[in-house]
Amino acid sequence: MSVLDVGLKAGLALPYACKGGVCCTCRAKVLEGEVKMEKNYTLEQHEIDDGYVLTCQCHPVSDRVVVSYDER
Ligand code: FES
Repeated sequence: MSVLDVGLKAGLALPYACKGGVCCTCRAKVLEGEVKMEKNYTLEQHEIDDGYVLTCQCHPVSDRVVVSYDER
């Protein structure tokens, strides 16, 4: 289950559209923990280097993950 889907299942109103790694609507910044991103058709390398992920495409690889959708 993706980070996005975990949040949606918990009842959070999170931004998303394609769920396919294309639209970038689900972009968020990882503040704590580590995730692995499966597909990425939209994020630039410098965004990834700064900690941004597509939450529809990432899965936690640490016990705790904190992401922020408010970082720009
Ligand atoms: S919802 Fe479109 S890239 Fe994640």
